[in-house]
Amino acid sequence: MAFYQQYTLSPNLVAIFLLFGLLILALSFVECRRNLLSGSYATYAAINCRKHTAYLTDFGGFGDGKTSSTAVFRAAVQNLSQVAEDGGAQLIVPPGRWLTGSFNLTSHFTLFLQSGAVIVASQDAGEYPLLVPLPSYGEGRDGPGGRFSSLIGGSHLNDVVVTGDNGTIDGQGSIWWKKFNRKKLKNTRPYLIELIYANQVQISNLTLIDSPSWFVHPVYSRDIIIQDLIIRAPIDSPNTYGINPDSCSNVKIQDVNVVSGDDCVAVKSGWDEYGIRFGMPTEQMVIRRLTCSSPNGAVIALGSEMSGGIKNIRAEDITAINSLSGIRIKTSPGRGGYITDIFVNEMNLQAIDSVFWTTGSHGEHPDLGYDSRALPVVDRITYRNVVAEDVKMAGNMGGIDGYPFTGFCLSNVTIGFGTQKENQVWNCTGVSGVSSNVLPEPCGELSEKGPSNCEYPQDPVPIDVLEMNTCSFATTS
Ligand SMILES: *[C@@H]1O[C@H](CO)[C@@H](O)[C@H](O)[C@H]1NC(C)=O
Ligand SMILES: *[C@@H]1O[C@H](CO)[C@@H](O)[C@H](O)[C@H]1NC(C)=O
Ligand SMILES: *[C@@H]1O[C@H](CO)[C@@H](O)[C@H](O)[C@H]1NC(C)=O
Ligand SMILES: *[C@@H]1O[C@H](CO)[C@@H](O)[C@H](O)[C@H]1NC(C)=O
Ligand SMILES: *[C@@H]1O[C@H](CO)[C@@H](O)[C@H](O)[C@H]1NC(C)=O
Ligand SMILES: *[C@@H]1O[C@H](CO)[C@@H](O)[C@H](O)[C@H]1NC(C)=O
Repeated sequence: MAFYQQYTLSPNLVAIFLLFGLLILALSFVECRRNLLSGSYATYAAINCRKHTAYLTDFGGFGDGKTSSTAVFRAAVQNLSQVAEDGGAQLIVPPGRWLTGSFNLTSHFTLFLQSGAVIVASQDAGEYPLLVPLPSYGEGRDGPGGRFSSLIGGSHLNDVVVTGDNGTIDGQGSIWWKKFNRKKLKNTRPYLIELIYANQVQISNLTLIDSPSWFVHPVYSRDIIIQDLIIRAPIDSPNTYGINPDSCSNVKIQDVNVVSGDDCVAVKSGWDEYGIRFGMPTEQMVIRRLTCSSPNGAVIALGSEMSGGIKNIRAEDITAINSLSGIRIKTSPGRGGYITDIFVNEMNLQAIDSVFWTTGSHGEHPDLGYDSRALPVVDRITYRNVVAEDVKMAGNMGGIDGYPFTGFCLSNVTIGFGTQKENQVWNCTGVSGVSSNVLPEPCGELSEKGPSNCEYPQDPVPIDVLEMNTCSFATTS
């Protein structure tokens, strides 16, 4: 019996050992391949992947922070624009400090900054060709002259991605701030990233520091995703706005953390008679999970340039500390246009001068050609589920004399005050609306009983439909 069992089992045992052996071999092969793959490929999420890959160093350049790579960036983009219609290209910027002046992007193009890659802006004004003022502004924002090109720019582009593994773009803005403060500038300072007439834009996974002025400025553009950014500038640096969507539609801004010298997000659409004539609104936009600190600015500003109109804007899960105001609406007679259908849900604020701030007499005109009878419409503004602590004023809300800002709806708002509390915590003139469950008790203009929950749109925003792909490139060049 024992013999028979031994005899019949042994081929099975052999087979089992053989199978085990093969399995172990196969597993180690897979493991080996996986190691090889993870060692030499990087992956990232983007709206589109590219067929062609190039490294900046393929075109020359030294990442020593001193040698100019301006010609290298320009040549690389020029070269890769040739394959825009053949699957597009990704340009990888390796670790190092790459000093450069202004350069433009191209279509079907990805600029990828590896971890440790820093694009350092040249401080030589000659490396920023002058552009004419934007048609919806009529003038540069710093004065009547031209506009220096932004560090990273481009116009009439399709499908552009600027991303990375948390690489950095350093605007080296200090010399520009000094010139601006001494009123020594004839032309408007460069912005860090400005895309004009672009469709399908992604700017993500980067650290942006010390822009000469505005950081991210998409203008006359649509389908824009801006996410996972850290933005830093000294809190006393002039006009270092974080993100300024300007006459843009279908915009998503999320998981962005800003500490800077001006508004963290400022929604715009052109200036007075120029903006009215151009007539291009900013609309269909969502801001999610914004974290902000801006002692000289607002967490989210609407205006003051809003002459093309601003409508259908949602903001949710907003966190801020140490800022001038939470939501700030700023406009003036002469602006025309409108700010309507603005919905804010869930704000958590600490150390804020005025939680809600609206101004109908902001002033600041491009020239004397504005029509003071062009009055902006401000209507249907919702603020709900807001908690704020250490506040000076709950609402400093002024409209336009004889032309009130209407349709405010406030619900579930709780505001606590710090030691610098103003005597008058609500200061309302020329505004009207309703409220429910607001503490402290709002001004008479807003005290009519409203719904216990002001309405917040539940339908998806169109930009959320745009799906991200997983893209990759070989990390050995
Ligand atoms: C630029 O593009 C051409 C194709 O037109 C290619 O042959 C060339 O190698 C590229 N230059 C560099 C430096 O990669
Ligand atoms: C970038 O594009 C703009 C608009 O097309 C152009 O005026 C400017 O000269 C370009 N800048 C560079 C550095 O090529
Ligand atoms: C981009 O940021 C997100 C959120 O922090 C992270 O999950 C993702 O891995 C980042 N991508 C890259 C390529 O670093
Ligand atoms: C990105 O880099 C910055 C500065 O280089 C650093 O402070 C930050 O923590 C990094 N963020 C992530 C998500 O790695
Ligand atoms: C009121 O707002 C707070 C803060 O956003 C939130 O946690 C709470 O659930 C809200 N209450 C109601 C009844 O919606
Ligand atoms: C109250 O509002 C009026 C009109 O908008 C303004 O002139 C005044 O300075 C405000 N008061 C405070 C304390 O801000």
